[in-house]
Amino acid sequence: MHFEWYHKLSLGILAALWLAYASNYLGDALVHAKTMDKPAYTAEAPEEGEAKAEAKTETAAAEDGLTLLASADAGKGAKLFGKCKACHTTEKGGKNKVGPNLWDVVGRAKAGGAGFKYSGALTDMGGDWSYADLDAFLAKPKAFLPGTKMAFAGLKKPAQRAAMLVYLRSLSDSPKALP
Ligand code: HEC
Repeated sequence: MHFEWYHKLSLGILAALWLAYASNYLGDALVHAKTMDKPAYTAEAPEEGEAKAEAKTETAAAEDGLTLLASADAGKGAKLFGKCKACHTTEKGGKNKVGPNLWDVVGRAKAGGAGFKYSGALTDMGGDWSYADLDAFLAKPKAFLPGTKMAFAGLKKPAQRAAMLVYLRSLSDSPKALP
């Protein structure tokens, strides 16, 4: 009786060992298969990873915030505006600081704020501030408008820009229709 119990146990252990060995072998085989058709998993992987991460950031910056406008939260934009406050006021008739007052800026003529001395770059651009132009400008001011006086790196995330755009839109007696 005792022997039989012991026998079963050792068989069980054997089976477990065999399974462990087999899965290990299988795992190795799979990893090797991957390495073979994807040389990217070799020693250069870290560099590739970095390049990919960079590419991803670029895509995020290149993506526009317009598609997110419908679900964007003006309250979040108001908080984000903390980044802009040093240079911009938002109330109607507010004063110009380092940058122009931004009341009613959506749909306003570019460089159209009263009494502010804009850069030649912005004055020469012409046209009105559409949502699309504001989105591109705020993503990377110096890329959208080389020569701008606005010393601000940009809001990299499309969701942040969408929140900012709906906040800027709210600074008006008659907010412009969303695109
Ligand atoms: C360091 C100061 C500074 C900061 C920070 C800054 N801006 Fe500006 N902004 C400016 C200046 C200066 C101009 C005028 C640009 C020109 O003339 O080229 C400007 C122009 C603008 C314009 C165009 C206004 C018009 O009348 O044509 C908008 C819109 C704007 N800023 C939004 C923002 C937002 C939103 C933020 C925050 C995310 C921000 N800015 C952060 C200084 C700043």
